[in-house]
Amino acid sequence: GPVGSARIHDSAPKHVAGEAFYIDDIAAPEGLLHAYLGLSGIAHGQLTSLDLDAVRAAPGVVSVLTAADIPGANDISSTHRHDEPVFATDRILFHGQPLFAVVAETREQGRLAATLAKAKYTEETPLLDIAAARAAGGRLVTDPLKLERGDVATAMAASPRRLKGTMAIGGQEHFYLESQIALAIPGEDEDMTVLVSTQHPSEVQHMVAAVLSVGSHAVTVEVRRMGGGFGGKETQANLFACVAAIAARKLKRPVKLRPDRDDDMAITGKRHDFVCDYEIGFDDEGRIHALDAVYAARCGWNADLSGPVTDRALFHMDNCYFYPAVRARSEPLFTNTCSNTAFRGFGGPQGMVGAERFIEEVAYATGLDPLEVRRRNLYGGAGRDVTPYHQAVEDNIAADVIAELERRCDYQARKAAIREANRKSPIVKRGIALTPVKFGISFTATWFNQAGALVHVYTDGTVALNHGGTEMGQGLYIKVAQVVAQAFGIRLDQVKITATTTGKVPNTSATAASSGSDLNGMAALDACETIKKRLTEFAAKHWQVEAEDIAFLPGRVKVGPREIAFKDLIAAAYMARVQLSATGFYATPKIHWDRKAGRGHPFYYFAYGAAAAEVAIDTLTGEYRVERVDILHDCGQSLNPAIDKGQIEGGFVQGMGWLTTEELVWDKKGRLWTHAPSTYKIPVASDRPRIFNVHLLENAPNREPTIHRSKAVGEPPLMLAISVLHALSDAVASVGDHRICPRLDAPATPERVLDAVERVRAEA
Ligand code: MTE
Ligand code: MOS
Repeated sequence: GPVGSARIHDSAPKHVAGEAFYIDDIAAPEGLLHAYLGLSGIAHGQLTSLDLDAVRAAPGVVSVLTAADIPGANDISSTHRHDEPVFATDRILFHGQPLFAVVAETREQGRLAATLAKAKYTEETPLLDIAAARAAGGRLVTDPLKLERGDVATAMAASPRRLKGTMAIGGQEHFYLESQIALAIPGEDEDMTVLVSTQHPSEVQHMVAAVLSVGSHAVTVEVRRMGGGFGGKETQANLFACVAAIAARKLKRPVKLRPDRDDDMAITGKRHDFVCDYEIGFDDEGRIHALDAVYAARCGWNADLSGPVTDRALFHMDNCYFYPAVRARSEPLFTNTCSNTAFRGFGGPQGMVGAERFIEEVAYATGLDPLEVRRRNLYGGAGRDVTPYHQAVEDNIAADVIAELERRCDYQARKAAIREANRKSPIVKRGIALTPVKFGISFTATWFNQAGALVHVYTDGTVALNHGGTEMGQGLYIKVAQVVAQAFGIRLDQVKITATTTGKVPNTSATAASSGSDLNGMAALDACETIKKRLTEFAAKHWQVEAEDIAFLPGRVKVGPREIAFKDLIAAAYMARVQLSATGFYATPKIHWDRKAGRGHPFYYFAYGAAAAEVAIDTLTGEYRVERVDILHDCGQSLNPAIDKGQIEGGFVQGMGWLTTEELVWDKKGRLWTHAPSTYKIPVASDRPRIFNVHLLENAPNREPTIHRSKAVGEPPLMLAISVLHALSDAVASVGDHRICPRLDAPATPERVLDAVERVRAEA
């Protein structure tokens, strides 16, 4: 059947041919206007005056909007902290903060007019990074979290050996290919339809309703697809949707808002950069006894998702490792920079990068091989299965995954060969590392773990499918369609995947936390089961057979002794007035979380994987190349191995970019310097590993009854790229005969690699 088979993405031919519709491809509605945002020119201070006369007088300008033009609340704070106005009115909190919007006949006219504003400010010193924020008293944007298990102070004091360190972990720009965009179309009365590139249509609906001061029932938000989201459209689309809607309401004309790339990069939040300060207690056998760490994050000018993101960093500060006594604290710091937000892994990658640094520290301190130290600290064995948040790891397969990958990629022999080759190669040094991943699946805000679906069967036997999940390229639509096709025994092309809309399935969660197919797959299946139950009851009565003798088989339905085509059953059921449409619903079982106590069972299950990376560095320049990567990843019983493999490859390469070449730079005034691909370097095709072997773990169904026993795959593979950071570290360490820990911070740009080479050489 369709489930479990490798099917291409439903839009793949359209993506390639340029025929897939993104919002900017939709034919302009009659009377379309274009909005453009006017941004602050300072990072911190008081706006004393804003002269918009020249903007108003510019060619093509129809209107200029400020906070005074908002019918409802000047507030799009997703946390209800009221810390995120649409337009600043007095306090300026970051460089690029929206002050006003201009609406013009063409986008180019709006874009030019926006530059003509004359803003006056009294400037104050901006807090731009973690160090500055801490030095100024460490104001937090949201409540910090503490996880604690065991008596850390005593365990630390009793540890045979101790060490302290600090690691800096960089942020990351999402660089979705389709930038933020919204098109608002006013209807009669207070109705507003918004087409927007968002991962969270329901939140946009509620935000638009609040700024327009109308009920949510007046607002319909539709998303056919995004050209990538990666977490950057979980909350960050709200601004663009709301401004377009405010303008459309005021002018009674459709309004589109699409910032250019530079503005998108300046305005929207990114992955949080972190500083992790740690103390490790361990012994000469490389076993960790105690761990105490603080995770400070640059959150930017408002809370946004910084609370759950920094929480998830703490939830992953163990990766696959058991710490007998542990304390972890978060420090979500306010800064005068863009408000950092969700990004694939949602803080988890930063926590996990820290965990692998701890392992590396212990390995170099004891002289043991890092992979051996990893193995010795894995969860498993009596009393060694409890996480820092007191959830037992019940589905642990990390040791098996590591062992199988080690064997498959011939890790030990290659490592020995690399050591040997390095001895004869004075300039180019190679390195290798194998790192595991364990990623918790579920939203840690328990109530988000719900989904709805709507399934219609038409009288010709074709099916229209709608659910709350959004398509951002990850293949959610095809996966859920496979589930529905399988449920009815019909072909995939008999299922029409319809655009996500708040009008069909209400109160949805963001498509995030990798949970899209887990949640929406189950909700859609629930709707199918309801329809199948009605069909079964009908058929049993109509053909005088027992319900047990009815089965939905591929392409046909068995009704007692006879087999009939699905479409003939549907036609007969329709004539007998059987309802052929149903909603479905799903709520993830088992999970609970008490944040105050730092205890619970926040994750339904864990997804596992491991990667082995081999690199070559030039010790004169710091430049490097990823020579080979082998991955073994756990998708449970994959719904679609082709899509899952794509997620693994894409996630890995995106993680590799984060940890190697992608570096964000702000100047002293708080202006983002790296606001275009000319200065911000994401991986390109030539950066991919020269040899790239990706395998799905076989015979590994999810222990939990998830949709067809699959596992979520959207985010976990990003963290497989930590292997590249450690392979680079291994190559750097070779110049000091592997006696000195390179302590490579992220991103390990060529400059940082060169710096580490010189440091290790000097210390050796
Ligand atoms: N894959 C593509 N092609 N584009 C994306 O924007 N987003 C990632 C991941 N894979 C993304 C992607 C992120 S951040 C998440 S949370 C998941 O997809 C969301 O989709 P899922 O829950 O259906 O896996
Ligand atoms: Mo993904 S960061 O949860 O949108």
